Amino acid sequence: MSGYAWRSTVSRALSVFKSQTTVTRNYGSVIKTITLIPGDGIGPEISSAVMKIFDAAKVPVHWEERNVTAIKGPGGKWMIPPEAKESMDKSKIGLKGPLKTPIAAGHPSMNLLLRKTFDLYANVRPCVSIEGYKTAYSDVDLVTIRENTEGEYSGIEHVIVDGVVQSIKLITEDASRRIAEFAFEYARSNQRSTVTAVHKANIMRMSDGLFLKKCREVAENYKDIKFTEMYLDTVCLNMVQEPTQFDVLVMPNLYGDILSDLCAGLIGGLGVTPSGNIGANGVAIFESVHGTAPDIAGKDLANPTALLLSAVMMLRHMGLHEQSRKIQTACYDTIQDKKVVTKDLGGNAKCSEFTDEICRRVRDL
Ligand code: IPM
Ligand code: MN
Repeated sequence: MSGYAWRSTVSRALSVFKSQTTVTRNYGSVIKTITLIPGDGIGPEISSAVMKIFDAAKVPVHWEERNVTAIKGPGGKWMIPPEAKESMDKSKIGLKGPLKTPIAAGHPSMNLLLRKTFDLYANVRPCVSIEGYKTAYSDVDLVTIRENTEGEYSGIEHVIVDGVVQSIKLITEDASRRIAEFAFEYARSNQRSTVTAVHKANIMRMSDGLFLKKCREVAENYKDIKFTEMYLDTVCLNMVQEPTQFDVLVMPNLYGDILSDLCAGLIGGLGVTPSGNIGANGVAIFESVHGTAPDIAGKDLANPTALLLSAVMMLRHMGLHEQSRKIQTACYDTIQDKKVVTKDLGGNAKCSEFTDEICRRVRDL
């Protein structure tokens, strides 16, 4: 069955469950609802691939598919459609494909609006070298943790006089403390040894200074984790020279956006790098952070790895470790084997063939 056909089967099946509200925090044996935002361009194809692999791994979830397009609410404020908001409010867990972002005009980025709407304050991107997918580096194993709600992304910009604009980088004590605490908690629960705060407090003395101060304070409560601090430019330099020296890195929003792309580049790019946006009380949206690739959309050529590995992160977040491990192993083994992989991974396989190969391996595990 083609990706699209499979997806519409799922959508039809889901409509049967529409009134079902068995949402529970116990992920053990109960079927859990996940809000699926397929996204634009290749989004629907790679989402179908993930659903198919979840099915093969017998993951006890059902999907509630929701579209996210920008709509204007009362007072002209941009918002996500109420059906998507209600679904996320109930399920607390989302998986999202790529959404297109208009440049410098029109509605704001829906990616950002989702993060804001659900206060998903921590963006987590593990960058781990993939065996069998050769890049200039091996043995990379680091995690970028990016403050996801403020900083340079606050969207506070104005014209002062004609030809002069000002953009405000907002840094608060509360958001800095909470991201620092998240980073140390993450390090502790993922058996990581070091947290590095990335900053430019030598230049932005007040804003980055406050961020760094909070990191230092929080570090005092985590004596089991080593704390270091480094300038952003120095991190970039050292990162491309010897990335294996880094472990967990925590930083303000824009630095995290840029540095996480750089780190993704070390392991093969955004097509193989997962991402999770985590908020309080378990609310989270996992996403592929590559673009919508409109040139190959609908051609069964897309690589679903980034979304699949994001879904693997999601399963771990939900406590479904067994299925998470199986899917990750099947995905890595398929890539390492090189026989049935998509073009960007060095093969000739279609998205659906790559997906079927992962399904076959999942069933055998
Ligand atoms: C990311 C993306 C987004 C960002 C874009 C799509 C708005 O680059 O998730 O890193 O800048 O945060
Ligand atoms: Mn980015």
